[in-house]
Amino acid sequence: MRVLVACEFSGIVREAFKRRGHDAWSCDLLPTEIPGQHYQGDVRMIILERWDLIIAHPPCTYLSSSGAKWWRDRWVEQVDAERFFMEFTNPRLTTIAIENPIGIMSTVYRKPDQIIQPWQFGHEETKSTCLWLRNLPLLKPTNIVDRREMKIHKLSALRGPGSSKTRKQDRSRTYPGIAEAMAEQWG
Ligand SMILES: C[S@@+](CC[C@H](N)C(=O)[O-])C[C@H]1O[C@@H](n2cnc3c(N)ncnc32)[C@H](O)[C@@H]1O
Repeated sequence: MRVLVACEFSGIVREAFKRRGHDAWSCDLLPTEIPGQHYQGDVRMIILERWDLIIAHPPCTYLSSSGAKWWRDRWVEQVDAERFFMEFTNPRLTTIAIENPIGIMSTVYRKPDQIIQPWQFGHEETKSTCLWLRNLPLLKPTNIVDRREMKIHKLSALRGPGSSKTRKQDRSRTYPGIAEAMAEQWG
């Protein structure tokens, strides 16, 4: 399968698909952290190429509920972010998963098809993650972690758009357990 992981600098989802023999590409404005098939640039330039599957992680800074206190001041950025997200809803994209935290897109676009947690995929953390799916089955949990062992992963309301770039990047990487499940179940 020819797979595009849109808005991915980490290479985590791309490599999970590659390990299963797929022709997997990532795309981000940033360079890839793991060397591999990566298009560094604007994903809108390649989104309408022939892809069997697209998994998109559009930026959520101005869309997520955790940043809601900035929504009023940053409406220009928010409208841009909404428009960018909506690029992935283009009807020409037949098989696609869009991933984002809980936020405004549940109203602007539609309710997500499912909300997953890292603790359903082998990680000791809670972080509600929405998936909007087209022609894909719901992602099935692979390894449920005992709730007593979990740390709460809060996108603190204290951290706004002005927080450090490294911390923002660190927090945005896809959990490997979720990447493996995507590749196993959607590949
Ligand atoms: C929420 S992060 C997703 C990170 C991803 N989960 C990972 O593991 O690498 C959103 C990413 O979208 C990228 N991005 C923003 N605008 C973009 C564009 N027009 N084309 C491609 N990537 C874009 C950002 O650079 C950022 O790395």
